[in-house]
Amino acid sequence: MASLSFHFCVLMVMFAGLISPPICHARFQEPKKHVPLFILGDSLFDPGNNLYLNTTPESSAFWPYGETFFKRATGRFSDGRLVPDFIAEYMNLPMIPPYLQPGPQRFIDGSNFASAGAGVLPETNFEVISLPQQLMYFKGMVKVLKHQLDDAEAKKLLKRAVYLFSIGGNDYLHFYDENTNASQSEKREYVGIIIGNLTIALKEIYGLGGRKIAFQNAGLLGCLPSSRSGTKNGACAEKPSALARLHNMALAKALKELESSLPGFKYAIFDYYKAISQRTDNPSKYGFKEAKTACCGSGPYRASNCGGERGRKKFELCRIPGDYLWFDGGHGTERANRQLSELLWGGGPSSTAPRNLKQLVELEIM
Ligand SMILES: *[C@@H]1O[C@H](CO)[C@@H](O)[C@H](O)[C@H]1NC(C)=O
Ligand SMILES: *[C@@H]1O[C@H](CO)[C@@H](O)[C@H](O)[C@H]1NC(C)=O
Repeated sequence: MASLSFHFCVLMVMFAGLISPPICHARFQEPKKHVPLFILGDSLFDPGNNLYLNTTPESSAFWPYGETFFKRATGRFSDGRLVPDFIAEYMNLPMIPPYLQPGPQRFIDGSNFASAGAGVLPETNFEVISLPQQLMYFKGMVKVLKHQLDDAEAKKLLKRAVYLFSIGGNDYLHFYDENTNASQSEKREYVGIIIGNLTIALKEIYGLGGRKIAFQNAGLLGCLPSSRSGTKNGACAEKPSALARLHNMALAKALKELESSLPGFKYAIFDYYKAISQRTDNPSKYGFKEAKTACCGSGPYRASNCGGERGRKKFELCRIPGDYLWFDGGHGTERANRQLSELLWGGGPSSTAPRNLKQLVELEIM
């Protein structure tokens, strides 16, 4: 894409018979098929936004995070790439950088607003960039885009774009911590609040021109090494997973309703919960030797402390991260992320429905 737009700039300058302007401004025509990728969510998708917050850096700012692919810590919670990194590649886009990264950015390719620890609700974690704040940043970026292109071109680009989400898991882990013995009706009420606020966010994106929404749903929260470390014999904790299941049913229903009520609104949901269940139940089928204990961390199941709080504490590190499903207590290895990306991008209806991401990207929205 970079070279295409560059050539167009050069041509424009030649035809006009002008000397090259100081900056070849972004007022070029984007090829019609160019689909940007905007990413919102939590640590599963955060490429390093939290590095730029005025809080103590997270462990993902330190070795061994990033060791496999980047050879340095980037703020990603994995040994290597995350799902959006692979998806950008499949979409023929460059890797989408963190929105907060200083310096010029090509918003015509997209931007990543995700923040580790974030929830749909700000009260889930006030220290990071909650979904409403991510939306504020998104709106700021839309203004910049409209200035760089023009209103009509920006609108078209926002309409073709894909909006990829991973959000909700932290809200439910937080709720579970605070309301371990919540009643069924309290759980349902909380799911309603999360889905209600998420729906507001999706309608805002729709209002700004967004049409193509993709979700990675809430995972098998009770089988994370961090959840196992709190149970007898390291069994999966049932309650957080039950919350995720309630959420995932409500999410599918909400998106279906939005598609039928908002003209042009289209979505895809990748069943992350199911993908992790399958790998937890049958690791070797997917090429993993270990799906309970994390590659990096200390204590039971190496559930925490990967990176050792900036080298102050000891932790264990496996030799081959690709043998493991989990890199740390809550996040997959690059190998796992690659498998998930393939399912999200090209998986059949039992993985990603009602269409996969490739089909969503290729849809022409009238
Ligand atoms: C929740 O219930 C279990 C058993 O039903 C009990 O052992 C536990 O202490 C309760 N937890 C809280 C936080 O009330
Ligand atoms: C959004 O979340 C707040 C709690 O932060 C809740 O009081 C409100 O009812 C939710 N809105 C919807 C539409 O569910």
